[in-house]
Parts: sequence; structure tokens; C-alpha cells
Amino acid sequence: MANHHIITGNWISAEEDYHGACPVFRKRFTLSGKKVASAVLYISALGLYEAAVNGKRVGDDVFQPGFTVYQKRIQYQQYDLAGLLETENEITVHLGNGWAAGRLGWLKLPKTSRHYAEKPALIASLVVEYQDGSTDLVITDRDWEYAPSKILFADLYDGETYDAGYEAAGWKPAVLFPHGKEMLIPQEGEPIREQNVLKAKLISVPNGETILDFGQNLTGYVRFRVKGEKGAVCELSHAETLDKDGNFYNDNLRSAKAKIKYICGGGEEVYHPHFSFMGFRYIRVDSWPEEIKAESFEAVVVHSLLERTGKFESSSKKLNQLYSNIIWSQKGNFLDIPTDCPQRDERLGWTGDAQVFIRAAAYNFNVERFYRKWLRDLKADQKPDGQVPDVVPNILPEYNNSSAWGDAAVICPWQLYLSYGHKEVLEEQFDSMKGWIDYIRSVSKDGVDWNTGSCYGDWLGLDAPAGSYKGSTDENLINEAYFAYSTSLLVKAGKVLEKDMSEYELLYQKIRDCFQQNYIRDDDLVCPTQTAYVLTIYFGLCNKPLLMARRLAEMIQANGNKLQTGFVGTPYLLHALSDNGYEDLAYTLLLQEEFPSWLYSVNQGATTIWEHWDGMNDKGEMWSTDMNSFNHYAYGSVADWMYGVAAGIQPDEEKPGYRHFFLRPMPDKRLGSVQASLKTKFGTITSGWYRTNGKTVYAFDVPANTTATVMIEGQTIEVSSGHHEYKL
Ligand code: BGC
Repeated sequence: MANHHIITGNWISAEEDYHGACPVFRKRFTLSGKKVASAVLYISALGLYEAAVNGKRVGDDVFQPGFTVYQKRIQYQQYDLAGLLETENEITVHLGNGWAAGRLGWLKLPKTSRHYAEKPALIASLVVEYQDGSTDLVITDRDWEYAPSKILFADLYDGETYDAGYEAAGWKPAVLFPHGKEMLIPQEGEPIREQNVLKAKLISVPNGETILDFGQNLTGYVRFRVKGEKGAVCELSHAETLDKDGNFYNDNLRSAKAKIKYICGGGEEVYHPHFSFMGFRYIRVDSWPEEIKAESFEAVVVHSLLERTGKFESSSKKLNQLYSNIIWSQKGNFLDIPTDCPQRDERLGWTGDAQVFIRAAAYNFNVERFYRKWLRDLKADQKPDGQVPDVVPNILPEYNNSSAWGDAAVICPWQLYLSYGHKEVLEEQFDSMKGWIDYIRSVSKDGVDWNTGSCYGDWLGLDAPAGSYKGSTDENLINEAYFAYSTSLLVKAGKVLEKDMSEYELLYQKIRDCFQQNYIRDDDLVCPTQTAYVLTIYFGLCNKPLLMARRLAEMIQANGNKLQTGFVGTPYLLHALSDNGYEDLAYTLLLQEEFPSWLYSVNQGATTIWEHWDGMNDKGEMWSTDMNSFNHYAYGSVADWMYGVAAGIQPDEEKPGYRHFFLRPMPDKRLGSVQASLKTKFGTITSGWYRTNGKTVYAFDVPANTTATVMIEGQTIEVSSGHHEYKL
């Protein structure tokens, strides 16, 4: 069936504004009694929907229709209803405000809710085909009715209030909701699903509150079983962490309330929120009508259905815990769009965060479809002159066009091409990539020197001046470095697509010259910082990288073998060192346990990646209440070094998607072994090393129809599919 006529229904809504309460819509219909060949429901909403037919939930997806640039793109889903239909039927659909009509953004913004619709609206068509070739059509229209539902309140940030004893009454005819249909598109992203459940433990805390601990910071919601008299109240609050005294702490959620209030219906009931999710490890039971038992609660982990492709294991428990934290931060922030964090009044598709993490993300899980959908949204929100919003889908009033953030437009498609080998992503995004570069050109002095605009800088770098979120690396240096890097990627992308890229090759040369003129004197940086060296080296912007790497190494050593980098420098820090002979120092940083370091948070009991190196100090005191997420994947970008350098699995841009790849593991004497695997479209690559009797054994698996270049201890060996081992 062609897409264009699939949703013949009309947009409908409640007449009045329900504010946070959720209306339920219903339609009763009779089928002819003939044998049904197929029955497909096409459905979407502005807001979130949950549909049921004859009391049975439709499909396993949650938080549908997902989050897109709704003005231009609203996904619809399709569900097979053949097994659910009878002769007499009732279809019911609950609507929540969700992303489209609910709260989105922190309180200081001029607009903090209802970015896409003033109230939630529904559209659906049910197409029933009978075996004799005839059809029946049930569509949303004014014959549908609506009433208030048991969901008295729901908001993505704030939680849900549910009255199990309430029975919908006072049904009224739905009103038509004036809205176009041209933006309806079939589901593009991975469906969002409940993935697994974690059990709770009751823990005792100093102030005597009742706290459940799920042992893992996660994104999703609680599911509980309760037996209370009709009207009895259950109230739950969520938190990621405990405070320095070991008590429940949720000040870092800022204005997100993340609260559940459940009013019992009188029987034994099982409940989970429908239109709200939380980032949490702990739940405080604020009121409960019976004895509180840990077995009554489970945490349901929710994220986009991504196939796990990568595994990493080493002889170090702490490193393995860091890796687990990265996996959990990816799960926690891949709920339809790549988000900065899942708990506070934000949860937005920050472009910078998505960009710094994509390389790690693409080892951990197959993220091709997930990011391709998001990149189409990026393109949809890009201005005609190439400006890229800070968050995608955009809900912010300004386009800051910050370097490293806007560069997601170029870096993400290129990474997908490298990791999965499909040039369609470059074809689809090329104009968007080029648009960003052309925009920077238009605001740069002489089209080359990018020294204007506002930049997030080396966000959260530890060399920040007091009171600032921005590390002290020169913002114009960051601009120019990213301008060069993204232009170089655009050139590569254009060549893959067999375009004439000579204009941009020339541009790249000019940017690189400009970078050197502005920021390099006597083979050193004019304003050296760790991040400035990292970008200069990693982006290939100096003529003497070994010398620069030595300076970077000296700077780190003078700082007690500790990093100072923020969002911009951290992803490439270890690469800049290990690419230039300082793998030993790269490992020192990776294995560093004192603050600031990756393993510092592991020692503090982290189960996800923190936004700040100093989210919590060693006395358990919080960095701040203002900007302190404990589930922010940006620094988890180090996973790409763990897979790509420690274990040594690297794609080859000449034969992307791992048709050919490099196996270049780097052993370190402080570890006994490192092993990684990566599932590719050809099969699973494994790469690793371990020590035995003073020797190092390197072991590799190369899938069928692929080849690899093994580079170990100064030797280069070309191998084809099969198992390969070397003892050196
Ligand atoms: C987000 C970041 C984001 C930043 C922009 C924050 O509020 O949580 O991760 O990149 O703003 O500077």
C-alpha cells in the first residue's frame, strides 16, 4: 500500500485544554463478520499515544510516535490488529502531552512547554481487508468520543498521577484538530521498547526514609504491585544518587519533579507510568498503603531497540566497570534521540554531545538507523543558510552555531559511513554537511578565519576560570580547528560521492594556514592548553605533531599525570597521545584513579558516566545543583579508544563498514589482558592480547569476506578471514 493514502483519518483532539491530564479517545465499530485477511492500524499523535483494542494493548512500543521535528516530520506507526479484532470492537487511545505538547527545556527559557502543539492530538486509520477482497475503514473523525482518563496528570519531566479507581465518564464527541498531514512519515527510527527489568533492594539511610535501590542508574520507569483500599495513595520520588550523608538526593533534577502518585482502586494492581520516564537508581517511598516489600517494585529499562555490537573486557575490574558505565549511559540517553541526560529538565538532542560520543556509540551498538533518523531531523531544523541548532529537534530560541556542536552535521554522517559502509547516508546528508561549512565560511573573516559568534568552548574543561562552565582553551582556536576538521571530512565525503571537491580542498588548505598563522609560533601554540594541543595534533593542523605531542605530554605530566580537558578535548585526548608514541601516558590517564579521571567516578561508585569530572567530590559533596547530571555520555567517548587502540579495532575509510580494517592493539604492562569484539555486517571481529610467561599473545578473528592489516610491535601483517594468533 502506498504511503500517501495510508492515514485517511483526521487529526482529532479534545475540545478543552486538559493541561496535564490525559484524555482517552474511543471508537466502537462493528465488522461485517466476513473472514479478515489483514487489519492494520496506522496511528500517530502530536503528543504521545497508547492504543488498545478490546482492552488489549496494541504493540510493544512505548513513547510513540517518538520525537522528531514535528512541524516537518511526524512518524506514524503501523500495527497488525488481525488477532485482536472481533465482530463488535472498541478501540481506545490515551493521549499524553509528551515532547510535542508537554514541558521541554529549563525554566529560564522564554518557552518551556507546548513547543509543537497547544494540546495533544490523534490521527489514525484502521484498514481491514477481507478475504473476499472487500475492505472496511475506521478513521479518526468527529464520531470518536473522548473523556478524562485515569491518568490525572502526565509529563515527561514531572511524572504521573494515576487514579486506578476512576472510571471514564462524560464522553463527548472529539473535535477536529486543524493540522496538515503532509508531515506524516512512516516510522524511521528504532522503536522504543521496554528492554529489561532490575530488582530493588530496600536500603537503610541515616534520615530514616524508605529508599529502594535498583543498583544501577538507568532510564525508564518503575513498575509496582500494590494492594490498597480504594483511594489509598502511593507516592514515589526518583533520584540518581545519594548525598554525602547517604540520604536521598534529587536536587540535580532541577525543576523536573519525577514523581509518581498512584491512587489505589481497591484490588491488587500492577502499574507503571505511561507518558513519563525518569533517570534514576533510587526511589524514595513517600507514601504506601501496606508493608513495603522490595519484591513489589522493579525498574523497567527503556530505550530505543538497538542491537548490541561491541564488547570490551580487560583484566582490570575498574576498567570493566567504566565500560559498563558507558554502556549504561548510552542506553540511558538513546531514547529515540541522542540526549545529553535523562533526568533533569533538559533531555535534549544536544548536537555537541551526540557528536563527541558517536564514535564510541557506533562500537557499542548498531546506531545507524537511530542516527540517520536524527540526522534527518538535524537537516529539517537547519536554516536555509546552513545554521545548525544547538539541540535537535530544536526547541531553543537561538541558533548559537557553536563549533563542535554544529559540527555534528558533518562528523555524524561521516562516522556512520565509516562504521557501516553505506554511502547513502553521505548522499542524504551531503547538502546539510556542506551547508554547515558554507555557513561558517559566510561568518568567517575572509571566508577563512572563524573568529565570530558564540561558542560553548571546551565545555566543563577543568581549566575553566572560576564561575565559568567553559574551559580556558581559546574559543577561536576551537572554532578554527573544527572548521578545518569538518572541511576535511566534507572533502572526503564529496570524493566518496564522486563530486568535484577542489574548491573545498583549497578552502581546507587556507583554513589550515590560517590556523597556523593565528595559533602557532615557533612550533608551539600561542595559548597552550591540553585541549588546544589535542585538537591541533588530532586534526592534523601542525607540521610537527611529534613535537606538539611532547608538549602535551609534558603539560599532563606537570599536572600530576592528570587531564583537564572538557567536552571538546576529552574525546581525542588519548588518541593524540597514542598516535604519537605516548601510549604509555594515554594508559596512565585511562587508569588514573585520583581526581580528575575516568576511574575516579568508578571509585566513587558511579554506574553511569558523570557530566562533570567532579560531579561529586571525595567527601561526597556535589559540584552544584544547577548542572550536575550523573548520566551524561560525553566523557564515555573514551570507549572508542578502548576498542580502537587498547584492543585495536579500527575501520578503514577506504573500505568502510569493516570490509577491510586495522588490528593494532596496544598492550600495557599495567594490564594482563584486553579483549574486544565487534559485530559487523560481515561477522564478528575479535581482537585482543594477554600476557603469558613474559610474552604477549595477540589473538584475532577476521570475518569471512573481509581482510585486515595486523600491526603489532612494529610488524605489519596482511591477513584474511580466520583466526590468527601471534606470540611475541
Ligand atoms: C547540556 C550539555 C550541552 C550544553 C551546551 C548543557 O545544559 O547538558 O550536555 O552540550 O548544555 O553547552
